[in-house]
Amino acid sequence: MRKRVFLKITAVAVLALGTSLAMAQDNLFKIGLILPMSGPFASTGKQIEAAVRLYMAQNGDTVAGKKVELILKDDTSAPDVTKRIAQELVVNDKVNVLAGFGLTPLALATAPIATQSKTPLVVMAAATSSITQASPFIVRTSFTLPQAAVGIADWAPRNGIKKVVTLVSDYGPGIDAEKFFKERFTFNGGQVSDSLRVPLRNPDFAPFLQKVRDDKPDALFVFVPSGAGAALMKQFSERGMDKAGIRLIGTGDVTDDDILNNMGDVALGVVTSHHYSASHNSPLNKKFVDAFGKANNGLRPNFMAVGGYDGMRVIYEAAKATKGGRGEALLNAMKGQIFESPRGPVFIDAQTRDVVHNIYIRKVERVNGQLWNQEFDTIKDVKDPGKAR
Ligand code: DHB
Repeated sequence: MRKRVFLKITAVAVLALGTSLAMAQDNLFKIGLILPMSGPFASTGKQIEAAVRLYMAQNGDTVAGKKVELILKDDTSAPDVTKRIAQELVVNDKVNVLAGFGLTPLALATAPIATQSKTPLVVMAAATSSITQASPFIVRTSFTLPQAAVGIADWAPRNGIKKVVTLVSDYGPGIDAEKFFKERFTFNGGQVSDSLRVPLRNPDFAPFLQKVRDDKPDALFVFVPSGAGAALMKQFSERGMDKAGIRLIGTGDVTDDDILNNMGDVALGVVTSHHYSASHNSPLNKKFVDAFGKANNGLRPNFMAVGGYDGMRVIYEAAKATKGGRGEALLNAMKGQIFESPRGPVFIDAQTRDVVHNIYIRKVERVNGQLWNQEFDTIKDVKDPGKAR
């Protein structure tokens, strides 16, 4: 008799505990943020984490009455690790959304998890055009390399650059950059005399740069991922490329704001096209750069940071619209968002789930003793040219 009563009480207690746990879960909106926080691409993780935390500090940690729980995981930039972590976040933590993705292979490896579990996945960094086609649950707030590359391919031939050698990191975004630069530059009457590809990890640029020097093009077009530009620039200078009259152009990844100010005089005059410069002249951006610096020991936000910041905006607004929802409803509320970002106007195309934004032509200049990418021309509302085919 006693035993039966005890069992009954235990059963009730267990049930109550289960219910309150479920309720606690229900009162949470969970964001699984997967980033390279260590290894060669840690600067991408550092920038995005700082931007995500800034967004939360400015906008509060509740949405639609639910507490936002941020679960940050380091994938060390290894695709199998990214995928495993995403699986754990979906199955064990039951996250509402996956976010981050510092490199193309990390996003591509995780796409099937998003599809199978119907979990929206917000790409804040990776920029190969095809990523959004890898899962109908992927939304992107970073950029695409075709978007960035065509701007400089239009600018260069109008500014005395007729013969170019391309040099790109040998993986998705580099191949996109090479292809779309070459296509547009050639269409504009330019000539690409050679196309060089360097390994993504630990590249030695020296032998490639020697080849470029011998070829004597008007300019070298470069794509290297965020963080790698400093080494490229140093070797460009050491080989005397600039002295030999070879200009450097590229997408804005090479003059990344995270490292630009330490590059020295060799960076002066480098013209690139990109969607974000920390010196973008708008009140919203000034506020963003200022608050980001204050919260992070003076760190300057780069284009990775803005991808993270805008990604949080897209997630928060979708969470509000769905009262902290998940799955397809949450995904649908991300599509079609229009807002002002620190980069300028942004639109999440509902058809492609990809970002539409301005591309700016910028030149590195010294302003008040610091190096900045100074925007001097704007190509408005650029859709990913990679989707049109
Ligand atoms: C990718 C990574 C970068 O650091 C960058 O600047 C552009 C693209 C990528 O892997 O997709």
